This record gives sequence, structure tokens and C-alpha cells, in this order.
Amino acid sequence: MSDFQEKIKELLSLREQARLGGGQKRIDSQHAKGKYTARERIAMLLDEGSFEEFDMFVKHRSHNFGIEDENYYGDGVVTGYGTIDGRLVYVFSQDFTVFGGSLSETFANKICKVMDMAMKNGAPVIGINDSGGARIQEGINALAGYTEIFQRNILASGVVPQISAVFGPCAGGAVYSPALTDFILMSKGTSYMFVTGPKVVKTVTGEVVNQEQLGGASIHSTKSGVAHFVVDTEEEGMTEIRKLLSYMPQNNLEDAPLAVCTDSIARLENSLNEIIPDNPNKPYDVLDVIRAVVDNGEYLESQKLYAPNIVTCFARFNGQSVGIIANQPKFLAGVLDINASRKAARFVRFCDAFNIPIVTFVDVPGFLPGTAQEYGGIIIHGAKLLYAYGEATVPKVTVILRKAYGGAYCVMASSHLRGDINYSWPSGEIAVMGPSGAIEVLFAKEVIGIENEEERVKFIAEKEAEYKKAFANPYDAAKYGYIDDVIEPRNTRFRVIRALESLRNKKLVNPPKKHDNMPL
Ligand code: HXC
Repeated sequence: MSDFQEKIKELLSLREQARLGGGQKRIDSQHAKGKYTARERIAMLLDEGSFEEFDMFVKHRSHNFGIEDENYYGDGVVTGYGTIDGRLVYVFSQDFTVFGGSLSETFANKICKVMDMAMKNGAPVIGINDSGGARIQEGINALAGYTEIFQRNILASGVVPQISAVFGPCAGGAVYSPALTDFILMSKGTSYMFVTGPKVVKTVTGEVVNQEQLGGASIHSTKSGVAHFVVDTEEEGMTEIRKLLSYMPQNNLEDAPLAVCTDSIARLENSLNEIIPDNPNKPYDVLDVIRAVVDNGEYLESQKLYAPNIVTCFARFNGQSVGIIANQPKFLAGVLDINASRKAARFVRFCDAFNIPIVTFVDVPGFLPGTAQEYGGIIIHGAKLLYAYGEATVPKVTVILRKAYGGAYCVMASSHLRGDINYSWPSGEIAVMGPSGAIEVLFAKEVIGIENEEERVKFIAEKEAEYKKAFANPYDAAKYGYIDDVIEPRNTRFRVIRALESLRNKKLVNPPKKHDNMPL
């Protein structure tokens, strides 16, 4: 064998060594926990054979607590680039088999390198998290490394899509990198995220809680809203990420890819002519409306289990990617509360940042009243959604399905917030408030003055009927041009597609400023 061939053999052997991470025993232990290794995860995520790895031979430079005697190629994170459906993406995948995936200075440098490359080349970054946090032996260098990553997350925000998968521990300050990204996906039973773990919680507050209760996937997908997607298996997680990316452009200067539409654009959906119940207090499922109008009934819901009174999802109209926001009458009558406002505001801002048109379906009785909401700051949180819609410059198409009352009418992409095309179904009720509330305010004195119960009920019913005739319809708004047209429900798909097509070259620029001061 020549020298040259010896060197090639050495390279192959070093590669083999690096691919073993922290060794076979730890790989087996990872598998025994029902988790895949960092490299297996990348292979599942990317198009087959597309992964190009960087920094496979990086090693840590630490000399504390005997760590200098334990050094693994790659230093606990696998980084590089590849493709998803033929489109470039950058990835990093933390390797729990090397020091528990804990972050060192060199580990952080590897992540920063792929993030910098993603920014230069305008491609998404996907981070797979499975880590014991800051590598204790590295001291301040680990903290510095985390912060370098955070800084890059911040600068990349709104420039390239950033997606975080959490498939293991993600604790302490480490949670803030995923938190700064656009979407977080967690796996049930194997992942958890918290700022301080159960032991610290017990010491500081006396509260006894386990990891799952404190920061498992179910908590973050239902209570905190931190996780946008929750999956049963890592395989499912990878499919979800690939699907999610299919709705997005590569960066903020591009449009999302146009898919081939196999669904008729003029499809009439007769079921929609029957979906609104006669009783205005009776709910229906707004997902039935969404399924009926989007291409092939397909959509991808973000934060499905959090604030279900509002739906946020990606879908397509005639192949064009859109973000849909829809009040959900099935939960809390579709009311806007703190959580729904925050959820929808963030979704609107993501769509606007990445040139994804917004379609809004409105059926909202108003903002949720009460001390819990007021003390929790519904004023500020509701303002977030108002702000997000008002600053968005992407095409905005709105369809009022039924109720659009009060401030909630204004907020939900009304024409006054630069909603481009605003339609209503004939069932639209666009008014300052619902009939019973309005009559209570307007005729309080008269109602008190009527002593006979029967007469009082009759008086209220008459006034409510009068109010409904005047306001519980879309024609008063249409009279002023606030609604561009009242459309037949079964024709909604076609009308939305036409509207979106007409807005394809929309140009709208906000006044120049350093940045806004949205009500955070
Ligand atoms: C160095 C670590 C480590 C860490 C784990 N390991 N965490 N090494 N620094 N932070 C090593 C372990 O020594 C072990 O090495 C291997 O990784 C696997 O860990 P186990 O404990 O055996 O695994 P498991 O039982 O599954 O428990 C996982 C764990 C636990 C829950 C993550 O390891 C743990 O609690 N680690 C410490 C977590 C932590 O407090 N991190 C600091 C958070 S503060 P061997 O050789 O046995 O395989 C923080 C600040 C960031 O991150 C601030 C940013 C601004």
C-alpha cells in the first residue's frame, strides 16, 4: 500500500471512529431509551444521501476535571447541510452519547458555523436538541457559546426559517435557543424543556413535580404553548418538519414554492351552504370550513392543542402556500382571550416575515371578559394581535363567516387594518356587540320601568329583533364598503383563490424605522 493509500485508509478509519460518537455502549443506551442517535436523526430528516458533514474532527480544548483524557471526534454535535425535497437546509443535531450532548466552546462554534452559512446562503436552519445543557467542565466558555448561538438566532429571525426539534433534555438557559426560533416540535415521553429542573423547583418553591409534569411535551403543547407540534415518535417528527418546510420559502426574500394543484379551483362546496346553525349560540367546527376550501382538504395546524379557540394552520389555495387564522366556535365560542391573541399574533408575524399570504376566517363574539383576563393583561396581549395584523404587508384576505363583534371585528384582519379583500357570508353579523348586550345597555332604564314580567320579555324581544335587523347582517358593513362583497358560502374556495391571485404582485411598505415597539 502506498503512503497515499495509507492516508486514505486512515481517513476512513477516523471517519468510522467519529461516527461512533461516545461509543457503542452509549449508542445502545440511547436506543434503549427509545431515542435515535444524532446521525440517525439527520438521516431520517434529510433526502437520502444528501447530508454533507462539517467539522467531524473537531475536539474540545478543555482541561478541567480530567476531561482532557476523554475526547471524542465531533465533540457532541453533528453539523452540516443537506436537502429536504431537493431544497437546501442546514442542520445541527446534538449527540447525547458524547458528554450527554452538553455544550462546549467548540460544540457552540460548530453550531455557529452552520448558522452563519445558512444566513449567507439564505436557507433554513433545523436544530435537533438532546442535551444536558452547558458542559460543566467548560465553565464560562459554555455560557459564552450558548450566548453566541442566541445572538445568531436573533439575527436570523425573520431572515431564514428556524425550526427546533426537542427529542431529549433541553434545560436551563439552553431552552432559549429553541425559544428564539420560529417553531418548536417535541416528542412525547422523551423530551422535556424547563428553565430550572424539578430539584431546583423543590428547593426554591417547595413544589414537588416531575420532569414530565414540569416541562414534558404535553405540558408545552397544551398549557404553556411553547411547543407548536407534538409527536409520538421521532420518525413522525421528521415527517412533520419536512411538511412544515414545504409551506415556507427558503428565506425572507423569496416566496414559498408553488405546489402543483390537483384540486379544482372552482369546486363548489355545497356543505358550506348548510354549515351555520340557525341558533347563533350553537357552535360548528371551523376546521370543516377550512378542509372544504383548501387544496385537497390538507392543512398543517400549529399549536393545535393550545388556545383551541383560534386555529392557526398552513394550507394551500391553487398551490399557493397561505397561513390561515380562524376563530373556532367549537371552543369558548371562538372568543379572543390572552392565549388565543398571543398564538395568532406570532403566527401572523411569521407569515408576514416570510411572504406567506394570510387568510382569515372570522366568527368571534368578542374579547373574553373578566378579572382573570384583565389582570393577565388582555389589553396588551389583544393589542399584539391587532399590531401583528396591522403591520403585516403580505396579501390579506378575510372572510366573515358569522359573528364579528366589537374590538374583535377590528382586530381580525378587517379592511381598516389594511385587509386587502374582505368578504362576508350572508350569515355575517358585524356590529359593536351582540343583540342582548346591546339592548341591555341601550334600554336599561326602560326595562327596569316595566313591572310586568311578560311585557318586559316582550319588549326586550322586540328590541332585539329590531337590532338584529339593523346590525346582525353583513349589509350594513357592505353599505360602507367595509365588506367588498357578500359571497355564497359554497363558492368560498373560488373567491379566495381569485382574491389571492389578484394580490400576487401586491406591494406595500411600512414607514422606515429602526424597529417597531410592538406591545410585548
Ligand atoms: C457535562 C454531562 C452534562 C453536563 C450530562 N453529562 N450532562 N457532562 N456537562 N451538563 C454527562 C454525564 O456525566 C454522563 O456521562 C452522560 O452525560 C450522560 O448523562 P447521564 O446523567 O448518565 O444521563 P441521564 O441519566 O439520561 O440524565 C440526563 C440529564 C443529566 C438529566 C441531562 O445528565 C443531568 O441532569 N445533567 C446535568 C444537567 C444540568 O444541570 N446542566 C446544566 C444546566 S445549566 P457518562 O460519561 O457517564 O456517559 C445550563 C446553563 C446554560 O445549561 C446557560 C445558557 C445561557
